[in-house]
Amino acid sequence: MAPRLRILGIETSCDETAAAVVERGENGGSTILSDVVLSQLDEHSVYGGVVPEIAARAHVEALDTLIEEALTRANVSLADIDAIAATSGPGLIGGLLVGLMTGKAIARAVNKPLYAINHLEGHALTARLTDGLSFPYLMLLVSGGHTQLILVRGVGVYERWGTTIDDALGEAFDKTAKLLGLPYPGGPAVERAARSGNPDRFDFPRPLVGEARLDFSFSGLKTAVRQAANSIAPVTETDIADICASFQRAISRTLKDRIGRGLQRFKQEFPPLAEKPALVVAGGVAANLEVRGTLQALCDGQGFRFIAPPLNLCTDNAVMIAWAGLERMATGAPPDDLDVQPRSRWPLDAAAAALIGSGKRGAKA
Ligand code: KG4
Ligand code: ZN
Repeated sequence: MAPRLRILGIETSCDETAAAVVERGENGGSTILSDVVLSQLDEHSVYGGVVPEIAARAHVEALDTLIEEALTRANVSLADIDAIAATSGPGLIGGLLVGLMTGKAIARAVNKPLYAINHLEGHALTARLTDGLSFPYLMLLVSGGHTQLILVRGVGVYERWGTTIDDALGEAFDKTAKLLGLPYPGGPAVERAARSGNPDRFDFPRPLVGEARLDFSFSGLKTAVRQAANSIAPVTETDIADICASFQRAISRTLKDRIGRGLQRFKQEFPPLAEKPALVVAGGVAANLEVRGTLQALCDGQGFRFIAPPLNLCTDNAVMIAWAGLERMATGAPPDDLDVQPRSRWPLDAAAAALIGSGKRGAKA
């Protein structure tokens, strides 16, 4: 029987300060003992986006207390923790430094191993904690900073099948909201406005649709939204609703084509498995009901399971970082040295070439 392991996770790569304790029991089952997240949304919303310097300061101010709270809620002390897992990239370098340095300091003080975790790996492995998924599976990460389709072959073995060549999907929502005068973050505002809109009024572009490669592009869509809004200015509430509904329609059609091809490729590369193949979604855009509906229908049509972990584990959190640490420990991988450095850019798939402009904001993951 494997020994019981408890790990403290720390996440500070963007605008959420988070700490969590996760336990892997002797029978292999895992339990989230605590999950504390402090969003900096209020501090950034007046600027219409995340301000790196403000984010880093806010992490410094909040992290100690948050870690204490995570330990208290888990009813453990640092002495009961077997390892520390801290996000060390990709993300905003100031925030990464705060989290990783704190992780190192705790590891040093209590003489426990430190695991420096790739934030994207946290997203990629979450469905194994929530749904006990086995490898391989496909993961679509759609957040403010990333739009990636990743083949998850095993712990530490990832293949990037598609990525954005310009804006991330969440970024397209945020920019569209901004130019329509809707509040930040834009995704929920656009979704709300779209509810009463006519999705057929504007025929927005669907870049790369029909192409064999599995990449995404969303900056043309944003430009088309701007042109549509300018051409009918001043826009009424009905116009805004119609633009938002048409925007979401274009995104759904794009996802249907791109991800549809990804599912086909998966079926070609892997013979029928014992279990139905699975597509996992993660990132803030996974909250969007039209996006979810599109992916669910696609999966139903192609014989895939569609797995959307609970929203608090789809968006940024420290449970996924603790879990990725546990997964690495379970493979017997050695911990990191205490001189490990944070990396603002850190692709999950080292072999995949960086695409021009992709993830240029680099801030959110
Ligand atoms: O994963 P996340 O919480 O943070 C990072 O990017 O790290 O994702 C935030 C992104 C923002 O761009 C936000 O506008 C988008 O997710 N988002 C949504 C919705 N809720 C959040 N996009 C579309 N529809 C939503 N309901
Ligand atoms: Zn993230």
